[in-house]
Amino acid sequence: MDLAASNSREPTRLDDRRAPVPSFPGPELSIIVPTFNEHDNVAELLRRLRLCLPHGSWEVIFVDDDSPDGTAERVRALAAEDSRVRCIQRVGRRGLASACVEGMLSTSAAYLAVIDADLQHDERLLPRMLEALRQEEIDIVVGSRYAAGGDLGDWDARRARLSRLATRLSRTLVPAQLTDPMSGFFMIRREAFMDSQRHLSSIGFKILADLFASSPRALRFRELGYIFGTRQAGESKFDSASAWDYAMLVLDKLVGRWLPVRFIAFSLVGALGVVVHFAVLSVAFQVLRSSFVASQAIAIGCAMTFNFAVNNLLTYRDRRLRGLRWLRGWLTFMLACSLGALMNLGLAASLYRADHAWPLAALCGILVGAIWNYVATTLTTWGRPRG
Ligand code: GDD
Ligand code: MN
Repeated sequence: MDLAASNSREPTRLDDRRAPVPSFPGPELSIIVPTFNEHDNVAELLRRLRLCLPHGSWEVIFVDDDSPDGTAERVRALAAEDSRVRCIQRVGRRGLASACVEGMLSTSAAYLAVIDADLQHDERLLPRMLEALRQEEIDIVVGSRYAAGGDLGDWDARRARLSRLATRLSRTLVPAQLTDPMSGFFMIRREAFMDSQRHLSSIGFKILADLFASSPRALRFRELGYIFGTRQAGESKFDSASAWDYAMLVLDKLVGRWLPVRFIAFSLVGALGVVVHFAVLSVAFQVLRSSFVASQAIAIGCAMTFNFAVNNLLTYRDRRLRGLRWLRGWLTFMLACSLGALMNLGLAASLYRADHAWPLAALCGILVGAIWNYVATTLTTWGRPRG
């Protein structure tokens, strides 16, 4: 057929409209796999999925955060040979939970599963999860390490303790009967996901706890036990900052409606910066005997740099700046916060002159300065990725 003719802009004739539309229905099940540096695991996971889901209508969507080890390239090579495989490559962003959400939003499948790429979750549970969702009136099936038949595998004692602590902390957010709210392995009905979707925090690692806490109605669930496997290749991305992310998630669910958690984190770091300021000031002024103005200037520089570095590590972990961008970020941060300091000073001075109590004048200055610093650095220092 002449392609140019079929693409012509002539209005469709009635006969054309009667021509049958070819039918290529989308998959029933979509398996979302968040990846970061999983180059050596993705092909093996796909092989195992083919084995345990030989006949079904399914697809697998890898959501990769621009892994330096070339995971996305590897996935695209697999996709070139199997149209059920897709790759979403996110540039300039990080985050397990937000990657899962993006994957789930990119498909029309009726059932959405999330599974890790590193073969630690038992993919043989997937057919049973699917059956449960098809047959029963439930919204979600959760792979649990604590339900009957489940086990932590060879997790070390420290990590196991942390996980139990996080589980206990989550009790304010999720139903008590859920044995493993920290699980990253589950299958959910699409409507249940869509209902929660706009309320999700999408912070850090814990997408399941987020889903339970964000759903406008109680999710009807069922758990299936599985044994947490040993990672074959690559390494875990769980680190101490993941604990911070988790605390932010819990905080967001508790107070996020009234106050952005990033602002709370930013202010906490700012308060720590004051401590740094006084430490540096007293060393420079009292120990090294520099002039007060020079000591104060050094202290301001150190405190600002400290604030920038810590915010970059924690508050804006998902948009962390490195290398040259770190330097550029530091510069914009210093500029933005200098303006903030001027505003702080200006407002406090004029309130004080207008006969307001000095603590009130100071507090208003600090508040306006903090809000300015937060908004300005969110937009510039950690704004959309450039270059
Ligand atoms: N896209 C993306 N972005 N993927 C990520 C990121 C990220 O920032 N961080 C981790 N991943 C991917 C990993 O590549 C892996 O496929 C999966 O998310 C889990 O990461 P691991 O680093 O292997 O986590 P873990 O083994 O310590 O913990 C996992 O299992 C626990 C038990 O179910 C996670 O799924 C936890 O959430 C879960 O509690
Ligand atoms: Mn893992």
